[in-house]
Amino acid sequence: DWTMGAYRQEAIRQIRDQVGDRKVICGLSGGVDSSVAAVLIHEAIGDQLTCVFVDHGLLRLKEAEEVVGMFRDHYNIPLIHADESALFLGALEGVADPEVKRKTIGKLFIDVFQKYANRIEGAEFLAQGTLYPDVIESVSFSGGPSVTIKSHHNVGGLPEKMGLKLVEPLRELFKDEVRALGRELGLPDHFIARHPFPGPGLAIRCPGEITREKLEILRKADAVYIDQIRKHGLYDEIWQAFVAILPVRTVGVMGDGRTYDYACALRAVTSVDGMTADYYPFSHDFLGETATRIINEVKGINRVTYDVTSKPPGTIEWE
Ligand code: XMP
Repeated sequence: DWTMGAYRQEAIRQIRDQVGDRKVICGLSGGVDSSVAAVLIHEAIGDQLTCVFVDHGLLRLKEAEEVVGMFRDHYNIPLIHADESALFLGALEGVADPEVKRKTIGKLFIDVFQKYANRIEGAEFLAQGTLYPDVIESVSFSGGPSVTIKSHHNVGGLPEKMGLKLVEPLRELFKDEVRALGRELGLPDHFIARHPFPGPGLAIRCPGEITREKLEILRKADAVYIDQIRKHGLYDEIWQAFVAILPVRTVGVMGDGRTYDYACALRAVTSVDGMTADYYPFSHDFLGETATRIINEVKGINRVTYDVTSKPPGTIEWE
């Protein structure tokens, strides 16, 4: 008779067997998989684990604080907060091409992760929140053993490069089982149920060139939108929802004056696995109320649109 409680105990035993008294590094993204892996491994080996959280400056409002607060302060897991936003945003200056953006971020991410990981003396293992579907996927893509880090963690090839062995305690689990394990480990519900968030973060929700100004505006608009979705009890019905700030300014009126501010697009989709998706059929009341709130509460936006493209032919993200 199989329960998550039993799985937890067995996984802890296996981690202890594998690691012994040696040290483990875990790249924490703030997502569910790496978080569950980190908490589980910490339970198994305590402070032999150090987490590295790379902050590329493309996170959502208060996201870095939340991750640091939860892991370092609540769970007491040793955590390096690698605040490298200046480095990333500097490198992205003037870059408008989506592929170049992704590559720039991915490459820097590896460099930065490696730099901080090197400070953890004597570490022999790298922990990853690889799930069963990732294992299948990488085997079918490469035909070889599955040693590539999940592509969306943007650290592919890192374990080989650093000479680290992998610890992958979630390898046998599906997403819903990881969530159940996370609950079993006491991670808060709202955290477990969070929508997926891409590795390149807000960069791919800011089509064209990224500026600090646009990122600020985007963060505020996104926070209002997600607040609306939660208040209307819709969050768990939606696979992913976010705002994209458009690289265009349009004219509006506000009181007696004319405005010339950014337009944004709201996105919300339902999906099973992110491979295909349908746009979410919000009521017109919800859309109208949300647009009004964003325009009133977020300086810099004077026009709100709703993206009604499904996937295919669209993608979920804008870039
Ligand atoms: P698309 O936009 O391709 O997204 O329909 C499908 C799912 O993948 C996420 N996504 C990414 N995740 N790095 C990631 O880690 C990326 O470069 C990336 N691009 C898209 C997206 O958020 C959605 O969940």
